[in-house]
Amino acid sequence: MERDKTNIIITGTGKGIGFELVKLFAATENKNIIAISRNIENINAFNENNSGKHLSKVFPIPFDLNSDEYDAKLLPLILKITDKIDILINNAGALINKPMLQQTEEDFDQQFNVNIKAVFKLSKLMIPHLNKNAHIVNISSMGGFQGSAKFKGLSLYSASKGALAIFTECLAEELKESGIKANCLALGATQTEMLAKAFPKYEAPISAKDMAIFIADFALHAHQFMNGKIIPVSITTP
Ligand SMILES: NC(=O)c1ccc[n+]([C@@H]2O[C@H](COP(=O)([O-])OP(=O)(O)OC[C@H]3O[C@@H](n4cnc5c(N)ncnc54)[C@H](OP(=O)(O)O)[C@@H]3O)[C@@H](O)[C@H]2O)c1
Repeated sequence: MERDKTNIIITGTGKGIGFELVKLFAATENKNIIAISRNIENINAFNENNSGKHLSKVFPIPFDLNSDEYDAKLLPLILKITDKIDILINNAGALINKPMLQQTEEDFDQQFNVNIKAVFKLSKLMIPHLNKNAHIVNISSMGGFQGSAKFKGLSLYSASKGALAIFTECLAEELKESGIKANCLALGATQTEMLAKAFPKYEAPISAKDMAIFIADFALHAHQFMNGKIIPVSITTP
C-alpha cells in the first residue's frame, strides 16, 4: 500500500483521450495511475516499451464497465494497489451514431450504461475509498450541454451525457460535507476514434493529447476553485 503518492483512477484508457491521460500522468512524479478499460493492450505495450523510464507507475485493470462485478472483481483489484484515491476521472464513453428512429433498446442500454450508469456505479464503489479533498472529474460532451448545437444521430449519446452533467451537480451536493469535489467537463470536438464515428469527415482542431493536457491539469488543481460545475471545454462543436 502506498499513501504518499497521488492515486488516480481513469476509465476508458484503451485509446483516445483516456490513453493520452495515462501517458501524461506516467511522465510526472509521485503518482499511481489505475487504468481501467476492456482493452489493455496499448497500456501493456506502453509499460513494456518504457520499462523503467516512467516517473510514475501505471496499473492496467481489464474491466468492462457494463459488468455487474464491481464489488466482486474490480474493487479487490483496486484495493490491492491502494485504499485511498485522490482523483477519479470517469472518462470512458460509448457513442452509437444512428437516427433516433433506428436506435434500438440495446443501443440505448449500451450508451446509457457506459456514459451514466457506470459513473454512478464506480463513484458509489469508490467514494468510501476517496481521500478528503479528492476530485471526481466526469467527462461529458458539448452534446449534453444545455442550449448547445445538437446533431442528428447523437440523440441517445447526447441525452446520456446530459444526464452525466446533472448527476455531477447532484453528486457535488451529496458530497459537500465530505470535502470531496465533483466537476464535469463538457468536451468539444477532439480528434479520436469516437469523433470519427460521430463526424466521419470532420477534422478537429484539438488532438487527444492536447485535451488530455487540459483534463490532467484540471483534475489535479481545479477542485481548489470550483465544485459541482459543468464546464464547456470547446473551441468548435463539432
Ligand atoms: N472525442 C471527442 O470529440 C469528444 C467530445 C466530447 C466528449 N468526449 C468524451 O470524451 C471521453 C473519451 O472519448 P474519446 O474521444 O477518447 O473516445 P474513444 O477514443 O472512443 O475512447 C473511448 C474509451 O472508452 C472506453 N470504453 C468504452 N466502453 C467501455 C466499457 N464498456 N468498459 C470500459 N471502457 C470502455 C474505451 O476503451 P475499451 O474499448 O478498451 O474498453 C476507450 O478507451 C468519452 O467520455 C467521450 O464521450 C469526446
